[in-house]
Amino acid sequence: MFRTQLLNEVVLKLLGDLNGKKILDAGCGQGYFSKILSDKRVKKVVGIDGSENLIKLAKSNYPENEKLQFSIQNLKNPLPFKDNEFDAIISNLALMDFDPIDTAISEFNRILSPQGSLIFSILHPLFTNGYLHKNIKEMIFHKPPHYAISNYATPFQKKWHIQGITHATTIHHRPIEYYSNVLSLHSFVISKIQEPTFPKSIIQSKNNFIKLSAEIPQFLVIKALKTQK
Ligand SMILES: C[S@@+](CC[C@H](N)C(=O)[O-])C[C@H]1O[C@@H](n2cnc3c(N)ncnc32)[C@H](O)[C@@H]1O
Repeated sequence: MFRTQLLNEVVLKLLGDLNGKKILDAGCGQGYFSKILSDKRVKKVVGIDGSENLIKLAKSNYPENEKLQFSIQNLKNPLPFKDNEFDAIISNLALMDFDPIDTAISEFNRILSPQGSLIFSILHPLFTNGYLHKNIKEMIFHKPPHYAISNYATPFQKKWHIQGITHATTIHHRPIEYYSNVLSLHSFVISKIQEPTFPKSIIQSKNNFIKLSAEIPQFLVIKALKTQK
């Protein structure tokens, strides 16, 4: 719900005019957003992901065609694309899943066209550092909306817990400043930062977690423009 109702709209707006463009979806998972993009008047969308299983799933969910292609690629390694090949790169909720991200950001700069833009979303660092998910059941059903923040400034990694379940994914918490530094190190300039929240009308919701989402952003979305090295 958060993804479809909040994130997609913001990301699509930041991508802007897609007409005739070649787009990379980096960390595309099972490919649903690559498919959304390829249904527009783009030239081509290439979805890449490090997971063999997810790329297999993407290919079976959304058969490849002249506008849509998937391949297995590890974003920690150099990518098999030409310099300046893409007009835009989108990376949805993937950069907080691996470390380090320097090679990915440097490669994004290399394969983007001179006017190209990188748009990426991550789980907001408010959510990757602390207490919210640990106590999510309590919070949804019993407690008034609140959020406790700890360990914000120092990057760290942890297994992802949600609703009492530990997931296989390792989440890398990094403060916003970290992303800003890596981007400028690799010749990107940030043109927009967005922190999508649900509309205030959601305050009517009985679910405290949803209520809280009108004030505390779930996602951080950054648009960065390529500059010459
Ligand atoms: C939370 S999922 C998001 C998937 C998709 N972008 C979406 O929004 O549904 C994060 C994705 O990043 C991929 N990923 C994590 N580390 C990666 C790496 N080093 N190289 C390529 N993909 C990676 C995972 O396999 C996973 O599909």
